[in-house]
Amino acid sequence: MWSRKRLDLGWGDLLAAAARTIVSRDCDSLAAEIEGQWSPVGDAVACLSVRSAFDLLLAGLALPRGSEVLVSAVTISGMLRIIEAHGLVAVPVDLDELTMSPRADALARGLTPRTRAVLVAHLFGGRIDLRPIADFARRHDLLLVEDAAQAYAGPAYTGHPAADVSLYSFGPIKTATALGGGIARVCDRRLLTRMREIHTGWLVQSHCTFVARAIKYAALKAASSRPLYTALLTACRLAGRDHDRIVNGSVRGFSNRDFFARIRQRPSAPLLSLLKRRLIRFDDQRIAQRASRAEQIMAGMRGTAYFPGSACEPHTHWLLPTWSADPRRLIQLLSSKGFDATQGQSLVVVPMPDDRPELDPVVARKVLSGIVFLPCYADMNNRAIERLAQIVAHELLSSGNATKVVLPSSCEGSTQRTHRLLTANPAVYS
Ligand SMILES: Cc1ncc(COP(=O)(O)O)c(C=O)c1O
Repeated sequence: MWSRKRLDLGWGDLLAAAARTIVSRDCDSLAAEIEGQWSPVGDAVACLSVRSAFDLLLAGLALPRGSEVLVSAVTISGMLRIIEAHGLVAVPVDLDELTMSPRADALARGLTPRTRAVLVAHLFGGRIDLRPIADFARRHDLLLVEDAAQAYAGPAYTGHPAADVSLYSFGPIKTATALGGGIARVCDRRLLTRMREIHTGWLVQSHCTFVARAIKYAALKAASSRPLYTALLTACRLAGRDHDRIVNGSVRGFSNRDFFARIRQRPSAPLLSLLKRRLIRFDDQRIAQRASRAEQIMAGMRGTAYFPGSACEPHTHWLLPTWSADPRRLIQLLSSKGFDATQGQSLVVVPMPDDRPELDPVVARKVLSGIVFLPCYADMNNRAIERLAQIVAHELLSSGNATKVVLPSSCEGSTQRTHRLLTANPAVYS
């Protein structure tokens, strides 16, 4: 069985992490080195996670209660929880289904005199074009926060120049993971200083927590090899347990219990040492290999399948989602053929405020309801890639499930690229 994902972390990195827990350095100087490396102009803050950085940002901003944040309509629930905890209201902005970027009409519709900020996520490893959103934000005097948790692609891009804040994650399943860690770039110096002051008051996460994490992910890394993963899934089946829930639950970063106590911590020295190592030794070949695997799969399914967000450029394909009207059936079929696909559990659709039904993010809901994340990583061989593409293409065509994506009328004629895809691939949207 090909596992759904492999950790982007070598055994050498884990050994180095183990060594750093024994001989570790001062975390403040390590954080300063990482921040300087990330951004020589001194506007970066190294945090425990993106959620920690975002919480710090909202604490630093101290916006009046009831202020609104326009949020691209697909994100993780933790980001919404943080917005709510600061007394703010998340307002969904529906997405373009090809790039998963906020649509201009939806941004305009969500705007009110209470809007103060826009939070935009780059999804699945693609990088959306921020310029039109930055123009919108500037026109309406809004803070633009770029959530690039899923989009780290190496040192060449550490934040869009037009974003006020850029957030990057190095959580366990992310590109170049350090088993945790987040970096924020903050343009406004007063806000940055305020965030640093608050951050200094947070406790440093214990070494023990990091050691436990390293042991857990070493075990998960071993378990993602084909023979062990097959054995694990067989054991789950025999025990009547839902492996999807177990696997997705095992990589959750912060439990719901004590969520804020857990995110409001500073990263420990061993975590920062590992993060520094990952940033210095970033392996762009491996990322290029992953992207080319994804492109191979998409090429093998051209004309039959829709890939949410795939029209972004550049794209590292951190995840490779496709879409089916009957996602469970596709997942079961793939499982029977040796591929562990999933609908995932971490992404959510941002709900509309009760009194604004016109903001219902219909495209985002439609996309997420049928999304299926396919296994796709550098370690997969050509044969597996070709077989995977064939199975999915055949299933979508023969079941007719590829033909049931119905575009809501609000999407009609959205982008030129949509139009090109519609004409190249009429079955998908008919
Ligand atoms: C879109 C998005 N935003 C924020 C986060 C949070 O990142 P972290 O785990 O570093 O808190 C994630 C994590 O997966 C994410 O996918």
